[in-house]
Amino acid sequence: MRLPRSVETADVEGQRVLVRADLNVPLDGGEIADDTRIRAAIPTIQLLLDRGAAAVTVCSHLGRPKNEEDRGTYAIAPVERRLRQLVPDERLRVLENTRFNPGETNNDEGYARALADGNELYVNDAFGSAHRAHSSTEAVAHLLPAYAGLLLLAELDHLGRLLGEVERPFVLIAGGAKVDDKLAVLENLGGRADRVLIGGKMAEQVREHNPLSFAVELPVDVVAAAEFASDAEAHAAPVDEIPAGWLGLDIGPSTAEAFGAIIREARTIFWNGPMGVFEWSRFAAGTRAIAEAVAAADAYAVVGGGDSVRAIKELGLAESVSWVSTGGGASLELLEGRELPGVAAIPER
Ligand code: 3PG
Ligand code: MG
Repeated sequence: MRLPRSVETADVEGQRVLVRADLNVPLDGGEIADDTRIRAAIPTIQLLLDRGAAAVTVCSHLGRPKNEEDRGTYAIAPVERRLRQLVPDERLRVLENTRFNPGETNNDEGYARALADGNELYVNDAFGSAHRAHSSTEAVAHLLPAYAGLLLLAELDHLGRLLGEVERPFVLIAGGAKVDDKLAVLENLGGRADRVLIGGKMAEQVREHNPLSFAVELPVDVVAAAEFASDAEAHAAPVDEIPAGWLGLDIGPSTAEAFGAIIREARTIFWNGPMGVFEWSRFAAGTRAIAEAVAAADAYAVVGGGDSVRAIKELGLAESVSWVSTGGGASLELLEGRELPGVAAIPER
């Protein structure tokens, strides 16, 4: 894999530095629901401050704002407050949500010039957004000397290990709802895995028609529910005995046990996507069993994607895996073997 040059090699003393971080955190009623991405951005910001940068200006998108009303919902203010609490330094500035400027998502050069204006260096640490060719991740990197931040490099390092020679068995676990996005990744990566375990909504689609060029393990039972509701009538059922019109909202206990046994034997693991609607406690057991097995395995285990990361954190198991990626779509595109535009725009090391 081509690696971009590191911020550690930049001469930052007395320089004004623009940092693109991915501070796109989940919000709940205007409050930050999970500040993982803000905390993950700190080492690079602190490095620049410690090395004597004259100013560090941080920018990020937040959400997918579409209209005027969204300007209130997705204002950067709560994120800025949290970042300032964590990094109380007068040289720190935080720009408003980059997506409030319509040029951002078009990779507009005019907006990139506005971002670059007044700065002498650019550092991209936004791994979670590196699959987007936007003004703040791509175009601006051609206007200032550009470097990769510490988080971006760490993500490339940890995820990159799955692209090279790995210890076997290599077990790939896929679930979640964004099925079409993920099938391409599976096609690229799955052939190199020894076992591919599929749960969640993806399993239903693959059971009907498997577009993949290799065999996969599918659930033998599910927790079937009469409707899509947290309090729906529900019970475990073999996949060929699901009552007509009912939905599988979690993998069943036999599947959880079988998947768990395979995972515990693995030496390399990549897990993306929950096994069911784990936000509802009655349908969380399958995802919990997978998370516990991934944590228990004596393996190089990487968990990527917003929902799987949330699950492993809520279960308190994040410390028991090798790497928890801050990127969802970005980690998937990287594993698909694609070069990410935000990375490609930075000169090679
Ligand atoms: C993410 O949360 O996946 C990244 O921040 C990118 O956000 P986007 O999918 O809205 O571009
Ligand atoms: Mg996304």
